[in-house]
Amino acid sequence: MSEVAKIELDGKVYEFPVITGTENEKAIDISALRSKTGYITLDIGYKNTGATQSAITFLDGEEGILRYRGYAIEEVAEKSSFMEVAYLLIYGELPTQKQLDNFIQSITRHTLIHEDMKQFFEAYPSKAHPMGVLASMVCSLSTFYPESLDPNRDAAAKDLTIHRLLAKLPTLAAWAYKNSMRHPFMYPKNDLDYCSNFLHMMFAMPTYDYDVDPVISSALNKLLILHADHEQNCSTSTVRIVGSSQANLYASISAGITALWGPLHGGANQAVIEMLEKIHKDGGDVAKFVAKAKDKNDSFRLMGFGHRVYKNFDPRAKIIKKACDDVLNKLGVQDPLLDIAKQLEQVALEDDYFKARNLYPNVDFYSGIIYKAIGIPTDMFTVMFALGRLPGWIAQWKEMIEKGEPIGRPRQVYVGETPRSYVSIENR
Ligand code: CMC
Repeated sequence: MSEVAKIELDGKVYEFPVITGTENEKAIDISALRSKTGYITLDIGYKNTGATQSAITFLDGEEGILRYRGYAIEEVAEKSSFMEVAYLLIYGELPTQKQLDNFIQSITRHTLIHEDMKQFFEAYPSKAHPMGVLASMVCSLSTFYPESLDPNRDAAAKDLTIHRLLAKLPTLAAWAYKNSMRHPFMYPKNDLDYCSNFLHMMFAMPTYDYDVDPVISSALNKLLILHADHEQNCSTSTVRIVGSSQANLYASISAGITALWGPLHGGANQAVIEMLEKIHKDGGDVAKFVAKAKDKNDSFRLMGFGHRVYKNFDPRAKIIKKACDDVLNKLGVQDPLLDIAKQLEQVALEDDYFKARNLYPNVDFYSGIIYKAIGIPTDMFTVMFALGRLPGWIAQWKEMIEKGEPIGRPRQVYVGETPRSYVSIENR
């Protein structure tokens, strides 16, 4: 007999089916709760609420496990290219050589953006945060491809929109940076791979070529893979919920980019470096900042520490920490911020406050140090996260659209005023 959960309300017992995932995760299916009982559930921050049944990414926060379509993150980060991972997430299987070649060829063909979009960039102030520029530009793509406004077109039309977006995001990201410097835009070079082409658009100038260092492009490949999907996090849930209204892919991803921007989510990588710089400038007294983070009267938090779901360790952080050492060694970079980061990690991991709350370094703790070492400016760090997360957002949007999920629309418990008589302005 299949498992059921019983809920007793007002003296009556109701039964609800229990759903078991392929990794034995259990959920009580309360889809019929309100219609059967008149009650809703309250779960602020959705700490216990499953919003969907997804076949893309498996994550076990207690055991520190992360898998894309069943493949361990450690293996994927070691053996794959970002394009293979994008294909895997979006289409469900690792591509054959032919499938990969076709995928890359299609993406490479769409790397240019419409010349008229150049004028949009020029209208932004040079100090504009690139995340603001990126989110607007991605939404603007929908105005150039009006046929993409309908998310339910046939598979080939949907694929074209997906490939366009994957192809154009690096161009938009690099041009947001170039524009902030008031440097000329560099056009994509289609004989380069995805990561090398991005680095070329970021760092080459019309007056000189930029020889892409394989150490840098392989580090970028790994970072993008590690960020590629993370099941129902804040920005992915945003993409799914915006997309559930049947808004187009560009609009849905643009919303995901803005959700990612916040310092509690993708913006943490920028916040970590700013925090490490602050500690460094202050004389490097790590213990002082750990004490501040523990002080409930102080709003300071250790950025790059803690995670909503990882309560043991973040498997991505383990890989990044090692990659960070490798990259800095290979490039011969000595960064005092890395020493501060390591001290901070040591002090925090031995501290009862952090131990009791299961607070460990997350993916963003070391990624900023690598970005800094490879020449990415600090306010572009979250843009790098967005580049990495794009395949995951797309895969989650596609899954939601193809399953025909209903519009996302939570309920609330109203705690405001009960009915009262209107008071005219002279009597207020
Ligand atoms: N420094 C100090 N205390 C912390 C921290 C921190 N970084 N994170 C959590 N705590 C404390 C928090 O004050 C609370 O203590 P208490 O129980 O005494 O009130 C307890 O730990 C639980 O924290 P929470 O805020 O209720 O946990 P949450 O699951 O709602 O938040 C988080 C998760 C990631 C937003 C939070 O840990 C945080 O703000 N971390 C710093 C920002 C950060 O690094 N974000 C990147 C996340 S990884 C990249 C991504 O996927 O977005």
